[in-house]
Amino acid sequence: MRQGRLLDIQVDVKSSYAKLKIGASIDIKPGQFVMLKGNWEEPILPRPFSIYDRDNNSFTILMKIRGKATRKLSKLERGNEIGFKGPLGNPYPNFRNRRIFLIGGGSGYAPLHFFARYFPQKENITFLIGVDKKGTRTFFDEIEGCKYQWAVEDGSSNHKTIVDLVKDCSFPSDAILIGCGPKVVLQTILKIAKEKSLESYVSLEEMMACGVGMCKGCAVKVREPDHIVVKHVCKDGPLFSAKEVFLEW
Ligand SMILES: Cc1cc2nc3c(=O)[nH]c(=O)nc-3n(C[C@H](O)[C@H](O)[C@H](O)COP(=O)(O)OP(=O)(O)OC[C@H]3O[C@@H](n4cnc5c(N)ncnc54)[C@H](O)[C@@H]3O)c2cc1C
Ligand code: FES
Repeated sequence: MRQGRLLDIQVDVKSSYAKLKIGASIDIKPGQFVMLKGNWEEPILPRPFSIYDRDNNSFTILMKIRGKATRKLSKLERGNEIGFKGPLGNPYPNFRNRRIFLIGGGSGYAPLHFFARYFPQKENITFLIGVDKKGTRTFFDEIEGCKYQWAVEDGSSNHKTIVDLVKDCSFPSDAILIGCGPKVVLQTILKIAKEKSLESYVSLEEMMACGVGMCKGCAVKVREPDHIVVKHVCKDGPLFSAKEVFLEW
């Protein structure tokens, strides 16, 4: 693992989200991810995270605090060392000149934000994002030039759930849908894309140990034209075409 240093940390205690800016130079592209581990014994395994943003000397992650590792990461202080492995996984395909709908639930916003930050045609991008509270929404930075529609579970927007937001959205026939987040969101995207014959992609999140295709921990069944094969989210993904993945996980 390479070592980086925590340059900045923002924790939103109410919404249990944190942004960690890690000082290290990494040539990572939208769609790829890193595995992170602090300087501790437990948990032993590093955890996978998408990139929320990056510049020449640092990268930032947007993290939902869920369990042991994310709690420990959220308690780090500026200057602490963080081990990281990456870039891992595959970059997003080239979506230039297409009308793109980036659909994310919660921390699923992270890779979509990174993609849009460096996509030259921001006017082609519409975000459909679902969060739990108004406070979470303000913790997620909006990108200038992109359009945003929000679903907020506390009722502070027109839609409460991302599933309803996606169902109510009228997608143009040339739209590309790209989703990241809870499985129910991905299932909705696949269903709507199929009904409306839209090109779509979903980013899968499986538990990972090695991040490079060795441990087989992130295996998923994938559909190929005439048979079913096993692929690995870390090595073959994390983004998969809707035609490949199964709705009934
Ligand atoms: C390719 C990839 C990219 C990811 N990018 C991000 C990101 O940008 N931001 C972010 O916040 N998270 C991201 N995740 C999820 C993140 O890796 C997990 O939340 C983290 O590993 C949890 O570690 P923990 O030790 O805190 O939780 P654990 O103690 O391992 O688990 C605590 C609880 O969280 C649940 N949990 C664990 N992993 C997930 C998950 N993937 N989705 C939902 N629930 C989970 C467990 O089932 C358990 O109930 C990504 C995962 C993958 C595979
Ligand atoms: S995490 Fe080990 S094979 Fe994917």
